[in-house]
Amino acid sequence: MSMKKSVLALTLGTLLTAGVALQNEALAQASFNDYVQTQHKFEHQHMNDVDVLVLLVAENEDGSIALPQMWDADTRAMIANALELEEFTGKQGQQVELLALPNFYAKRLWVVGTGSELARADAEKLGASLAAQLNDKAETVVVHAKGLSDTQIAAMAHGMDLRNYRFDKYKSEPAPRPDYTVHWHGDDGDAAAAAYAQTQPLAHGVFVARDIINLPGSDGYPQAIAELAQEAVSGYDDIKATVYTPEQVKEMGMGALYGVSQGSQHKAYLLVVEYSGGGDEAPIALVGKGNTFDTGGYNLKTSGSSIARMQTDKAGGAAVLGAVMALAGKDAPINVAGVVPLSHNLISGSATLPGDVLIAGDGTRIEVVNTDAEGRLILADGIWYARDKLNARAIADIATLTGSKVGAVGTDYSAVFSDHEDLLAAMKTAGEETGELVWQLPLGPYDGIIDSWLADVQNVGSPGAQAGARFLQHFAKDTPWIHIDMAGNAYGTGANGIHPAGGNGYGVRLLAEWVENYNAAGN
Ligand code: BES
Ligand code: MN
Ligand code: ZN
Repeated sequence: MSMKKSVLALTLGTLLTAGVALQNEALAQASFNDYVQTQHKFEHQHMNDVDVLVLLVAENEDGSIALPQMWDADTRAMIANALELEEFTGKQGQQVELLALPNFYAKRLWVVGTGSELARADAEKLGASLAAQLNDKAETVVVHAKGLSDTQIAAMAHGMDLRNYRFDKYKSEPAPRPDYTVHWHGDDGDAAAAAYAQTQPLAHGVFVARDIINLPGSDGYPQAIAELAQEAVSGYDDIKATVYTPEQVKEMGMGALYGVSQGSQHKAYLLVVEYSGGGDEAPIALVGKGNTFDTGGYNLKTSGSSIARMQTDKAGGAAVLGAVMALAGKDAPINVAGVVPLSHNLISGSATLPGDVLIAGDGTRIEVVNTDAEGRLILADGIWYARDKLNARAIADIATLTGSKVGAVGTDYSAVFSDHEDLLAAMKTAGEETGELVWQLPLGPYDGIIDSWLADVQNVGSPGAQAGARFLQHFAKDTPWIHIDMAGNAYGTGANGIHPAGGNGYGVRLLAEWVENYNAAGN
């Protein structure tokens, strides 16, 4: 099993010398089933020995509760009494547990409210909350889901899968992974199975993104991430992966990308993954910040808390890779290109100095006033590549870009910026559908905020999040473009909703949905 292998790798690493990085082998996992051991079954079969039976109950206007008619009258009366005692009305998230009911086929009965309607994101959260409680309790689980639609059932199963991912490669003794089978008893098993199958590529994309985000900076440097990504897409014959080496990055003129990583022994790479599902049309490009560690450079992040967990600064790039994999897995009829500039923002005698001027791929001369504003530098060349080399018909970039964004909208929303109504509308819908919320901030009127006296533009300005956006806009030029600042959204140190602890894969489902929405609207 893969778990054993990684424990071995860690042991070896520790034996060699303290500080020797965990080898990257064993870190890439191939398929959906390598990630979650739990299984979902949708065909109706009669079960006798059930560990946990979940009864989903909708909220009715008249306050009545419908219990399954197939249960005998005594059992129904007993349950109805208990529910009344607990003032259970079927409100979303309400839950009552009944243990060891006499002559009952399940050891535990969880009666769970689904509310009067159950939107996709809420269904996912409900599934996740069940998954969080099921650990260790059960091998056989039945969810009685009559009255729910096949997509609602699929969303609940998807939420469970998302919650059940674990990043335990760095644990000396990983806790056992959740390992149970959930039997969904809804109205139409085949339809639910088909709807669930549509969610699996999304979950797989999220898992790969989380793996990448979670890798510590000394193990997940640019080349390692590029290789991991190549490996992750190697099973997809309609994805072409191209990796540009540091020499090629330099040769092609991507001096902004190159400059961010030049102080590190791990120089910059450019990863491009192209999924072709749409014939000859120009692709939609997703450009993601893949800064594999952010020390700030010579504008060193000086407080321990601001440099902590800056291995997650590659979350935008991880989201882009995951979204392209998800779309390919769903056979979406679209051409999509993922562009991920990979850098390691470190200091040394060869690092870029504050005040240095870098020349980007499009020829723009950039005064690097602050080496900690590195994300926009690498994205500048990523966006240039998407526009100039791929002829993208639209570009979305996504990045853990500014603390200023966190101050403005916090970490439950990302901030989006665009002058293009079509792109914005598709993004807002995608945010609502996936629960990966976005909030629009204005691009203007902020003319001149990145003007430089020395070069063509400078990499900082005020207000901070807008300066980042305006800087990127300079490189998108007239290509329809939208910018997502996801600083603060990338991870949590504890589990929350559909996310276990660690990198959460924010952006994978948002971007995949956005591409589909934008394309379907005839753009
Ligand atoms: N990666 C950071 C942004 C960030 C901050 C991500 C907090 C996640 C949590 C980015 O590269 C950065 O350092 N931004 C600076 C920009 C400033 C120097 C203009 C910032 O926001 O402080
Ligand atoms: Mn930075
Ligand atoms: Zn950064």
